Amino acid sequence: MIDRFGRTINYLRLSVTEKCQLHCDYCRSSEECQNSKELTAEEILRLSRVCVKLGLDKIRLTGGEPLMRRDIIEIAENIGKLQNLRELTMTTNGQLLSQCAKELYRAGIHRINISLDSLNADCYRSMTGGDINKIFSAIEEAKKAGMNPIKINAVLLRGINDGEVNNFLHFSREYGVTVRFIELMPLGRLSDKPEMRITMKEILEKNPVLIPGEKTGEPAREFHFSGSAKAGIIAPMSEPFCDSCNRIRILSDGTLRPCLGCIDEISLSEFLGGDDKMLSEKIERAVFNKPLGYTMRDCEKPIRDMSRIGG
Ligand code: 5AD
Repeated sequence: MIDRFGRTINYLRLSVTEKCQLHCDYCRSSEECQNSKELTAEEILRLSRVCVKLGLDKIRLTGGEPLMRRDIIEIAENIGKLQNLRELTMTTNGQLLSQCAKELYRAGIHRINISLDSLNADCYRSMTGGDINKIFSAIEEAKKAGMNPIKINAVLLRGINDGEVNNFLHFSREYGVTVRFIELMPLGRLSDKPEMRITMKEILEKNPVLIPGEKTGEPAREFHFSGSAKAGIIAPMSEPFCDSCNRIRILSDGTLRPCLGCIDEISLSEFLGGDDKMLSEKIERAVFNKPLGYTMRDCEKPIRDMSRIGG
């Protein structure tokens, strides 16, 4: 699909649940809002089918934490069978991944992004509430299952984990994964703490081992270090990539969000009972009208936390 600014939109980020067992400060502002109505597996498949028919050929399952859904394998399997879908991926916090990596691979998820903000067990626990050992075994299992590439997402926070860039680079080389450092966006409990953001510029100044690669049009700018090893920096705040945005989001209650940083939302739930044609037209119109970009300024909070949008 092409939007009114001529951008090709081919990528759907599909949040399957708002539930998450972790409580990362940058992602969520409160414990509430974890029980709004969730799409059924059937509705998720229907939405995916219609989106793929419209030309979206890449789907990423997100949350909340997607593996909190008991029927996640069934969901992935069904979507994985859609003709003309080129790529099915997932972003997960990794806590429940080691048990189901093989099944997910079989269902069609061949690449995965895992959130891991610190390599220090105590720091990781205090940032997220999670157990870092589960991530290490998740990475092993995902590798064994055949997932490739495995990408690690780390949101850098000043005074907390910003001294770990070098450790992350070593880790990524050792484990054969690609780490991406993400600039803090003003969401969750840290939405009024812009001073905690570490920008791309600052990462590069402090880590001259990172040598810029070619610009790819992807959100992550690629960098090389020690020969052929690669890392990424995602800089939605200091270098927004709206011009080349190719994505829309559907949230776990059936709301379509055309732009991460804009509050405009379109509810699709009333069209889930009708025929595909109405649903399809609604999505097509929303994509066409996708905003040009966001003005996600500090302290100007989008109405939903990342925990509900799925990144
Ligand atoms: N700023 C930047 N990245 C965020 N994520 C969640 N909340 C924020 C935020 N406020 C990241 C998570 C996850 C990805 C989907 O989005 O680290 O890996």
